[in-house]
Amino acid sequence: MSPSQRMPLVLRLALIATVMAVIFVVDTTTRYEVAAAVFYTVVVLTAVRLVGRTALLLLCAACIVLTVASLVLTPHGDLRSGLVNMGISIAAIVMTTWLALKMEAARAAAHEAQAQLLRITRITSLEGLTTSIAHEVNQPLAAIVTSGNACQRWLAQDAPNLERARQALERILADAGRASGIIARVRSLTRGEPPQRAPFDLDEAVREVVELSQANIAMHHIVLSLELAGTLPPALADRVQVQQVVGNLLLNAIEALLPVAPAARRLRLASCSEDGMLLLCVEDTGVGLAPGMIDHLFDAFWTSKDEGIGVGLSISRAIVEANGGRIWAEPGARGGAVFRFTLPVADGEAAA
Ligand SMILES: Nc1ncnc2c1ncn2[C@@H]1O[C@H](COP(=O)(O)OP(=O)(O)OP(=O)(O)O)[C@@H](O)[C@H]1O
Ligand SMILES: [Mg+2]
Repeated sequence: MSPSQRMPLVLRLALIATVMAVIFVVDTTTRYEVAAAVFYTVVVLTAVRLVGRTALLLLCAACIVLTVASLVLTPHGDLRSGLVNMGISIAAIVMTTWLALKMEAARAAAHEAQAQLLRITRITSLEGLTTSIAHEVNQPLAAIVTSGNACQRWLAQDAPNLERARQALERILADAGRASGIIARVRSLTRGEPPQRAPFDLDEAVREVVELSQANIAMHHIVLSLELAGTLPPALADRVQVQQVVGNLLLNAIEALLPVAPAARRLRLASCSEDGMLLLCVEDTGVGLAPGMIDHLFDAFWTSKDEGIGVGLSISRAIVEANGGRIWAEPGARGGAVFRFTLPVADGEAAA
């Protein structure tokens, strides 16, 4: 946000009116040869971002009227030069207004195209995720149908094989549990709502999530270092969703630390601003990322854990991207892994 955009609208309009008044006085009190009216173009260029199309056209008309009025009221100088200067000034004002309106229309079109692209990207990533979820849930459902048919056959025999039927029933229950487990996990990770983007303090949001994981961290003798910047500009994103991402990364880091010796379990969270975005790093000294893993980490249902479902990171990526950021993983400097994600700042220039 530029300093002029931070100024309240009334103040900005008052400033424009003052500049117009100053130009009028200078143009009227100086000789005909001084074409001060040309500076009305600056007024038009400043106003284009503040007022609508009709208001800008009215402003343009007002500038022309003031230019003519100055010529009539100017007491001295060469009238021929005055007429030429007035013509040049009016032409400049009209041209500037026309160009400013064109520029504003182009800017609005670019903005709309950008918003559309974001919507398409979001739908694409969520569509991919939905397909994977449907595929994954379909597997236990198909197994339930197979086991159900088998169960029916065992029971329909002249001498029903109750033991076999019981086993088939057990498989049905296990598969049903698996299907509902997947859905429950997905529901707990996504609230199924579009992001509610609003400015918030990233450090404070992270601290709240860490607080919730504190017992888990202490129980596993993990040494935590919290290096939050404390001076970051506010993030512009859905606070709850961002906390889900941080919670996910923390949980993954804790799970990656469990197989290593307790004395070597380190977890580091750091925040900073970089290239106009906010950046959060979650670094651990856990099992690390084997070669080739990085390409799959964010794929839905890709997991290396017996009890894992493999949706944590793919949902985290969908959330971060829907909020205008980026998430990626790298091997840690001291072994282990580091996950980073960025978020846009509420004030475009504050973090630059
Ligand atoms: N900090 C980490 N260190 C090492 N490997 C990791 C780390 N975080 C994630 N991974 C790897 O990425 C895989 C995918 O993670 P993701 O969170 O998507 O699924 P998950 O943890 O296996 O299961 P879920 O989150 O659904 O319970 C994990 O199985 C693990 O192999
Ligand atoms: Mg996980």
